[in-house]
Amino acid sequence: MSGDLTRQGGGGEPSAQSWVSPSVLSRAILAAAMARVPPFEMTLEEQRGELASLRVDMSVAVVRAKNPFNVGTIIRVAHSFLVREIFLIGTEPYYERASMGMHRYENIVKCPDEDAFLEAVQGRPLVSVERDSATTTIWQADYPPNCVLLLGSENDGVPPKLLDASSLVVSIPMYGVNHSFPVSVAAGMVLCEWARRRDPRGGACGPDGHPGTRPLA
Ligand SMILES: C[S@@+](CC[C@H](N)C(=O)[O-])C[C@H]1O[C@@H](n2cnc3c(N)ncnc32)[C@H](O)[C@@H]1O
Repeated sequence: MSGDLTRQGGGGEPSAQSWVSPSVLSRAILAAAMARVPPFEMTLEEQRGELASLRVDMSVAVVRAKNPFNVGTIIRVAHSFLVREIFLIGTEPYYERASMGMHRYENIVKCPDEDAFLEAVQGRPLVSVERDSATTTIWQADYPPNCVLLLGSENDGVPPKLLDASSLVVSIPMYGVNHSFPVSVAAGMVLCEWARRRDPRGGACGPDGHPGTRPLA
């Protein structure tokens, strides 16, 4: 957990939820602005160094197979949440330009196969995002600190071996006849829910202490 994030618990406080302090938020907003309009006086390495101190204790992983256009989009989305790393699993080509240049700011870890990925995450908790095998929803899940959110491929989803290695499998509720969201959309939704709980503007907890049940005002 970053030193800038505080954990609150006990009494009437939301339990076991990490919130970003306002100072971290304003630095994050500044960093986002920097990413959009990089100041000329800073090198890329200097900008990456500034962003490093703002990164959160969560990473994203995606299976490259069948996702050539989505991988770049996921890098772009994951950058906006300042994840720690983005693990790319597999060796299939992908369309880097879909990241809109954000790959330059990110810690991208290329893992040629599932075993290399498991070795790279070094026992960090895996949270698979996969509807069919899910035991909870993105709203009800308790995301472990330092977790890696894992997204599957468009055809085959999260591979069975990685599902087995996961601490948690979460679904995103759907209401229409389609079976799944595009993977980059799914990535955006789970990242947004993860971030909502840490942002004072996100209404992190309801009166029953559950992370996703704050009533609308
Ligand atoms: C297009 S889906 C394909 C999944 C699988 N082939 C299927 O249709 O059951 C690609 C990836 O997006 C994510 N995804 C899409 N919709 C989801 C949902 N409703 N709940 C959880 N994950 C979802 C998962 O990571 C999934 O592996």
